[in-house]
Amino acid sequence: MFACTKCDAQFSKWAGRCTECGAWGTVIEDVGAIHESPSSRSSSTALPGKTQSFAALTSSESSTHRPTGLPVWDRILSGGCVPGSVTLLGGEPGIGKSTLLAQLGLTVSGQGKRVLYVTGEESPAQVALRLRRLSPTLPPTLEFLEENRADVIASTIENKKPDLTIIDSIQTVRLPDVSGEAGNASQLKACAATLTEAAKRSHAPIVLVGQVTKDGDLAGPKLVEHLVDTVLMMEGDRQQSFRILRVLKHRFGATDELAVLHMTERGLEEVLDPSAALVADRPKNVAGSIVTCLAQGSRPLLVEIQALVAPAGYGTPIRRGTGIDVNRLSLLLAVLGRRAGVSFGDQDVFVNVVGGIEAKEPATDLAICLALASAKQDIPIPPQTIAWGEVGLSGEIRPVSNSGARLKEATRLGFTTVIAPTGKIESPENIQLISCSTMREAIAALGKK
Ligand code: TYD
Ligand code: MG
Repeated sequence: MFACTKCDAQFSKWAGRCTECGAWGTVIEDVGAIHESPSSRSSSTALPGKTQSFAALTSSESSTHRPTGLPVWDRILSGGCVPGSVTLLGGEPGIGKSTLLAQLGLTVSGQGKRVLYVTGEESPAQVALRLRRLSPTLPPTLEFLEENRADVIASTIENKKPDLTIIDSIQTVRLPDVSGEAGNASQLKACAATLTEAAKRSHAPIVLVGQVTKDGDLAGPKLVEHLVDTVLMMEGDRQQSFRILRVLKHRFGATDELAVLHMTERGLEEVLDPSAALVADRPKNVAGSIVTCLAQGSRPLLVEIQALVAPAGYGTPIRRGTGIDVNRLSLLLAVLGRRAGVSFGDQDVFVNVVGGIEAKEPATDLAICLALASAKQDIPIPPQTIAWGEVGLSGEIRPVSNSGARLKEATRLGFTTVIAPTGKIESPENIQLISCSTMREAIAALGKK
């Protein structure tokens, strides 16, 4: 075995760079682990554990959601916080994590429940300033603890058993007997484990903030994702006011739930009709733009896909995508070239999902392809047209799930033409459904309009 001296990560072979913490030259042979063979570890002195029937568990012992009173939180978490659960809220700095949790803390404490806000990242005065901005009066049951030692926080939680504990952030807490500075991989894992244990023992729910760096989420929250019950991610462009709150993992309910929030002067507000807001200001009669419908979670969501195609300069043409998977984009460009006769060999290609939304489900393939074909041919797609469908390698268009819900959402927002895979869906009277089984057919359908 080999281990990293900085973060304790273990590897089966030697590497120059630790893949967990990114440090160079810290992976050495772990002699201790070699000597401790599995046979020497398995001890015959351990007493057998006591097994129990699941049926004997009363419903109060299994998970029950407690509504927090903050509608967006309760909706995406299938009903609220589960006692003893740990939720991780990730996102880039400045996206609005502390704002959302301040609102959550105010709402819960406003009902007379006890909320503990552990301030590690900001001073209590800074947090108080934000709280006052959000609410003129602060409930007396909203308390703070200025502390960065995870063991002290854990014993405070076990002692006080607050109805909700907010720890802002996991990167600022540390354990004295773990090596390294706060925020390194071994500190993150050990602190998350200590806090999770405290939550389980005291049946007190904890929400942890995890900062995500610009170049990916490897640095922090990813390391503790498996330790916590729920992972929420806040995404979006800091310059734009829309924020997307997404459930990535949830042990007590549906994942893939999503909420669109709007940053205002008085905190984050949920956008109640996100589809309408996201497609409201789109340019009309411009080549390269089309709307598609995502069906993640329980609500369908309309988004605009934009494509731009321009002659490439010197060197390899650029392929860039925001909100879509770039590998998928390369695949779709190849399918368009080989199966539909629309090639992009010497062109730079840019695709953008408007509003900072991530549209990574395969159902967006067809809309991406149509936006690209429209941009390449410089022919605008009629604005009331919407498309969805998965594109296969032979240029076939495959059916997608939730077609009925997508169609209903498109109709509700006044779309009149739907380009979709062939299948058994009944189109409402006021909508023209163009069923296509190949990419060629779909592009031809655009030309006819
Ligand atoms: P913040 O919640 O501190 O982000 P994070 O904790 O993710 O780093 O702040 C996000 C931004 O929101 C910050 O630039 C200030 C702004 N903001 C508002 O626009 N309205 C508000 O009511 C509040 C509290 C913050
Ligand atoms: Mg913050």
